[in-house]
Amino acid sequence: MIYTWEIFAFLSCTAMIKVLHCNADHLLPPTHLSYKWLDAFTVNVSWSWKSPPNLPEGCEIKYVTEKQQSRGVQSRHLGRTPSRFITDNCLTEEMSSDSCTYTISTTGHKLCQNWTHSTPVNITVYSKKPQVKLVEDFRCLPDSDRIHCSWIPVNQSLVLKLTYRMCGIGEEVRNGTKHCQNLHSRGNGCFIDTDGSDICILLDSEIGQSTFRAFIGEPSPKLEIKKAKHCLNLTWTPPEMGRNCWIYQFNYTKCGKPQPQQTAQTNFVSIPYDENCLYQFQSRVLTTKDCLPRQSDWSDVVNFGADVPPDGTPTVIAIVIPIILSACVLLSCYFFRKHRKIFCPTIPDPSAIFKGIMNGNKDHKPIVPGLYAPVDELVHTCNVDIPPENKENLQEF
Ligand SMILES: *[C@@H]1O[C@H](CO)[C@@H](O)[C@H](O)[C@H]1NC(C)=O
Ligand SMILES: *[C@@H]1O[C@H](CO)[C@@H](O)[C@H](O)[C@H]1NC(C)=O
Ligand SMILES: *[C@@H]1O[C@H](CO)[C@@H](O)[C@H](O)[C@H]1NC(C)=O
Ligand SMILES: *[C@@H]1O[C@H](CO)[C@@H](O)[C@H](O)[C@H]1NC(C)=O
Ligand SMILES: *[C@@H]1O[C@H](CO)[C@@H](O)[C@H](O)[C@H]1NC(C)=O
Ligand SMILES: *[C@@H]1O[C@H](CO)[C@@H](O)[C@H](O)[C@H]1NC(C)=O
Ligand SMILES: *[C@@H]1O[C@H](CO)[C@@H](O)[C@H](O)[C@H]1NC(C)=O
Repeated sequence: MIYTWEIFAFLSCTAMIKVLHCNADHLLPPTHLSYKWLDAFTVNVSWSWKSPPNLPEGCEIKYVTEKQQSRGVQSRHLGRTPSRFITDNCLTEEMSSDSCTYTISTTGHKLCQNWTHSTPVNITVYSKKPQVKLVEDFRCLPDSDRIHCSWIPVNQSLVLKLTYRMCGIGEEVRNGTKHCQNLHSRGNGCFIDTDGSDICILLDSEIGQSTFRAFIGEPSPKLEIKKAKHCLNLTWTPPEMGRNCWIYQFNYTKCGKPQPQQTAQTNFVSIPYDENCLYQFQSRVLTTKDCLPRQSDWSDVVNFGADVPPDGTPTVIAIVIPIILSACVLLSCYFFRKHRKIFCPTIPDPSAIFKGIMNGNKDHKPIVPGLYAPVDELVHTCNVDIPPENKENLQEF
């Protein structure tokens, strides 16, 4: 009975939820989407929206905005806003693309009861001029108290105009747009005047434009190496800006053998030292995740110590012992051949022995000349003086 009641309760709840769900209405999506470029980098995307007549009192409408990234990259959530426009930097992330797409939907924020979010709508923003790749290897580095940017033009004969500003979207930043002076008098580079490290660059030419974000690089860190007991103390001069932002990456070869790359969280690190090795270091600085992304190139190679040929003894041993051994073998072979009769005595022909014995050879002279001493013994034991009267007996033997 109890189960039946529970099942009934469950079913009625489900039905109620279903009814409520059916009653819920989708808010209308934004309409009349349009965009306007505020300058080369920032676009203002705006839309209208029609409120339903029976929207509950106090229901706040917000617009959810997303930017579609290039293929394979997840779309980026830009936020929820009550205003019917967004300003955003478009085409500064990817040099190769000349459009960016925004997705906008309406949602009820509070007290909207059964009103749910709208279907999303898309708007694609196109660049004013075709985006073309005009330069390669664009980089900016501090140069005394200014910042110098340089690049390799893709087409030498194209005249380029460079405009830049900090990468914000506000009116103040947009008002701070500057032109690169002396673009051609200094070849493929110019000095730029900026307070921040995140700069938006516009390169303009007759065939198209290129907008992108450039980061001010760092000069490679200066490495100082000091020898401590069995260690090397490595110290880097930290970059001037953002003292707490930097980590140091370094790698080295030891006696010509590359060692795995290491990262130091501070500008000091100690590594074990082998005095017999030449160490060759390369390092760079980069910012931690919490800071604006910046990094230097790998530094030039810094050498420390020298490859000392290791203690000679093992080598000498390794060379001399085989020589001595082979000499010994050769000599032994030689002597062996020469005195082979000693080592491999010719086994005397027993008949000869008997002959000698029968001939009454009574002296201790070995029967076979050159016979080795032990044989002498044998001869001695065997060479019994045989009394002449026993000669006949022996003969019978
Ligand atoms: C939303 O709910 C209210 C009552 O809470 C009701 O009057 C209204 O008809 C519902 N709207 C829709 C679209 O179902
Ligand atoms: C963006 O465009 C809308 C509609 O034209 C306008 O009301 C708004 O002020 C503009 N925003 C900016 C930051 O220019
Ligand atoms: C909006 O763009 C996204 C990504 O490009 C796509 O998945 C979606 O179907 C588009 N929506 C509409 C309504 O065109
Ligand atoms: C370089 O630019 C010049 C001037 O616009 C053009 O005539 C030439 O064909 C371009 N060269 C290449 C390789 O694109
Ligand atoms: C930006 O420049 C325009 C025109 O030069 C000026 O009217 C406006 O006040 C400036 N805005 C800011 C925030 O400096
Ligand atoms: C090397 O660093 C250690 C601390 O790790 C310090 O005690 C030592 O004095 C340093 N030696 C030199 C030569 O800088
Ligand atoms: C350090 O690493 C860089 C990049 O992986 C490499 O080009 C360089 O040869 C390495 N230097 C040393 C000394 O191992």
